[in-house]
Amino acid sequence: MTAPRKLHIKSYGCQMNVYDAQRMVDTLAPEGFVETASVDDADLVILNTCHIREKASEKVYSELGRLRVAKDAAAEQGRKMNIVVAGCVAQAEGNEIIRRAPVVDVVVGPQSYHHLPQLLAKAKAGGRALETEFPIEDKFGFLPAPKPAAIRARGISSFVTVQEGCDKFCTFCVVPYTRGTEVSRPVARIVDDVKRLADNGVCEITLIGQNVNGYHGEGPDGRPWPLGTLLRRLAEIPGIVRLRYSTSHPRDVEDTLIEAHRDLPELMPYVHLPVQSGSDRILGLMNRKHTAQDYVDVIDRFRDARQDIAFTSDFIVGFPGETEEDFEATLALVTQIGYAGAYSFKYSPRPGTPAAEMQETVSAAVMDERLVRLQELIDNQQSAFNAATIGQTVDVLFERAARNPGQIVGRTPWLQPAHVMASEDIIGKVLPVTITSLERYSLLGHLTTPLSPSLPSAPSHTVMGA
Ligand code: 5AD
Ligand code: SF4
Repeated sequence: MTAPRKLHIKSYGCQMNVYDAQRMVDTLAPEGFVETASVDDADLVILNTCHIREKASEKVYSELGRLRVAKDAAAEQGRKMNIVVAGCVAQAEGNEIIRRAPVVDVVVGPQSYHHLPQLLAKAKAGGRALETEFPIEDKFGFLPAPKPAAIRARGISSFVTVQEGCDKFCTFCVVPYTRGTEVSRPVARIVDDVKRLADNGVCEITLIGQNVNGYHGEGPDGRPWPLGTLLRRLAEIPGIVRLRYSTSHPRDVEDTLIEAHRDLPELMPYVHLPVQSGSDRILGLMNRKHTAQDYVDVIDRFRDARQDIAFTSDFIVGFPGETEEDFEATLALVTQIGYAGAYSFKYSPRPGTPAAEMQETVSAAVMDERLVRLQELIDNQQSAFNAATIGQTVDVLFERAARNPGQIVGRTPWLQPAHVMASEDIIGKVLPVTITSLERYSLLGHLTTPLSPSLPSAPSHTVMGA
């Protein structure tokens, strides 16, 4: 028997990349690869890159510089280390990476991970391989469904890709260029994936896609199904007690999704709905195709359907042309909505995007100052949101033993970590917890009904809102 080959994968960026990293591990497992935490003893290193952040490609080249040292050291020991660059930087700058970094054996874009074994075979034969093609439309203008099958179960919670790509073309964003046009997977494949995960102990599914609520996969009736209808179908699968989805665009919130929140106790009342700015002028320059009031109206529709729903968002400060007045409109919107949390970023130009050509840039000092003000407001809202759970009884899905001996940690419907003293039998169950205190971002509490041997093993969940 040949010894397993070791794979080290370093992943940056969004949830989709976390998922893709697991997908690459699963694709390579039948080839005899097992994961290792150390670069130095790896036979294969994959950099799963992200193009969203500032200086993304420079960071990749400096990482490749470090990997060259590790590759040389391996060669001195008579071992061959292959290096793969994957993810959105690979997609955007594949040829340039091959040209500039001889240390790289394979460059592979997100649409082609299922070809990794063949690409590696080429590298093993001494060649170098590049695959960053987007799927090609057939003669009817249909794109093939994205390839990913669901990753294998890892614990009680799993991501499932339902949609990839984005057609929105916000002027600051590279995603439409790196992940391509919007493509949805057929309902039947997603149902099969979720059933298989449920059979392997998964009870929480997060549907992911760059514009997940733009989902329009082919349903069993041959028609495109919206996300709300897909969620309804998935909620019927035995063993699935929690459903989530991310990331959504405010323009694509259909009534079927709102109704799913109204009707499905499995659908968690926690929605990531990026707005980016509260100024209509900036939203226009960003090509968001919605106003601040449109966004507020969408939030109101959700809240009318389900009272306990909470929101998170993404914000960009210092978009070209953003004045103090524009920024104050963002602060006003945050104050009006009241978030459970949010990510905020300083604008940074992405080569090839329309905003990168805009002249009226905001100075670094002004961006820094705005970021601090925005983050302070959001932090206060997040602390208030978390503090409001003290004294409440909330459902917690228990995930694993915590670092403190005897403690088990799980998540509330709003993804807050919650710790209780209990036995490991509760892992995989949803149980009511009385929250007693808050430590930084983590809640402490106790099981509301102490576990007794007569407690049913089936997960419970409180029906809220409906
Ligand atoms: N500059 C700053 N932030 C950006 N984001 C996307 N592109 C840029 C950029 N060029 C942020 C947006 C998006 C999140 C994933 O990253 O807020 O929602
Ligand atoms: Fe990028 Fe999101 Fe805009 Fe699509 S909707 S272009 S992923 S910011």
